Amino acid sequence: MSKEIITKRITTRDIRLKKAGEPIVVLTAYTAPVARLLDRHVDMLLVGDSLGMVLYGMETTIGVTLDMMIGHAGAVMRGSQRACVIVDLPFGSYQESPRQAFRNAARVMAETGAAGVKLEGGGEMAETIQFLVSRGIPVLAHIGLTPQAVHAMGGFRAQGRAEEDAVRIRADAHAVADAGAFGVVIEGTVEPLARAITGEIAIPTIGIGGSPACDGQVLVTEDILGLFGAFTPKFVKRYADLSGAIDEAVERYAADVRARSFPGPEHCFGMPKPTEP
Ligand code: KIV
Repeated sequence: MSKEIITKRITTRDIRLKKAGEPIVVLTAYTAPVARLLDRHVDMLLVGDSLGMVLYGMETTIGVTLDMMIGHAGAVMRGSQRACVIVDLPFGSYQESPRQAFRNAARVMAETGAAGVKLEGGGEMAETIQFLVSRGIPVLAHIGLTPQAVHAMGGFRAQGRAEEDAVRIRADAHAVADAGAFGVVIEGTVEPLARAITGEIAIPTIGIGGSPACDGQVLVTEDILGLFGAFTPKFVKRYADLSGAIDEAVERYAADVRARSFPGPEHCFGMPKPTEP
C-alpha cells in the first residue's frame, strides 16, 4: 500500500511572493470531493459565495449566509491538504464596521481552519482590511465587478470602460494593496486597466475577466466543467461537458431500473446465481 505524503499547505505568504512569477492557479471549491480532485492542480481554492448561485440556485450571491460559508469551507478544508484555502465573507457580514468584519472573519478562521478571507470592495474597505490584517487575518481583496453590489451596479457588466470608473478602480487597487491585502481579485474589468493595475501594485492580481497579464487566474469550477448552465459569462472557458456526461449516465441508470437489469446479482446480498440454460 502506498503511503500518502502529507505536504505542507501553501500559505498566503507563498501566494504573495508569487507576484510577477509563475501564474497563480485558482479555482472555486464548495465540497470535499471536488476539493480533493482540484487540490494537486491549484495554488489556491476559493470557497466563493458564488455557491449561492451554483449550488443553491439563487439569482445572486446576496442571500448567502455566514453559516453556509462556514459549512462549505469546513468541507473544502477536509477535502484538501495542499492548496491555500480562502473563504468569501458573504454580503452583510463585514460591511457594517471593521469590528463586525473581524468577528465574522474570526469565526471563519476558527471554525474552518482556512488561511484567510476574501471581501469585496476597494477604497471604502481599506480601513476594514487594515483592521483584519493587523489582527492576524489575511485578506484577499476583490475589486472591479463585485457581485455583492450587483443591484448598485445595475447588473453584471464589465467595469472600467468610462474614464471615471477606470480612475476609481485603479485607486481601489492601490487602496487595498496599501491596506495590507495579500492579493486582489480583479473581476470583469477591461483588459488594459487590469494589465496596468497588475504592473503598478506590489501584490498579486488574480484575474477573472481581467487580463492574461494578471499574476493569476480564477474561474468557477462548475463553469469550466460545464456543470452550471444558468449564466455563462464571456470570460469563462469550458474545458469539459460534465452535464452531457451526467445526462447520459442517468439516462442509462433509469433505463436499467425500468428494465429490471439493475441491480444485478453482483449488487445484491445472497441472491441465487441465475442457472445455466
Ligand atoms: O464567489 C466567487 O466564486 C468569486 C470568484 C468567482 C472570484 O468571488
